Amino acid sequence: MGEMKEADAVGEYGNPTCGDLMYIYIKVKEMNGQEIIDDISFQTFGCAAAIATSSMITEIAKGKTLDDAAKITRDDVANSLDGLPPIKLHCSNLAADALKKAIKNYREKKK
Ligand code: FES
Repeated sequence: MGEMKEADAVGEYGNPTCGDLMYIYIKVKEMNGQEIIDDISFQTFGCAAAIATSSMITEIAKGKTLDDAAKITRDDVANSLDGLPPIKLHCSNLAADALKKAIKNYREKKK
């Protein structure tokens, strides 16, 4: 949890429904021609479900290649928490979408 000052890229995503905001920070290392998420952290200004899903996506994504991490879905995050109440399902969008934005930003910076 927390801001990563030495991050290679940051993904920001806001939930238009409730106004909550999340940042996902990633540090990437290249190993055997693969880009791996070496470290990941989050800052979340939102509800308890948004914080839980932020934390869970850092657990799921750390050590994965960028290609595999980009495939993590909102459902993957919610299922890893043994589900969320239906009214809180939209909160898992922040984590998956903020990670995708961080990966996209990393790739754009590398070009
Ligand atoms: Fe806003 Fe959960 S109510 S992310």
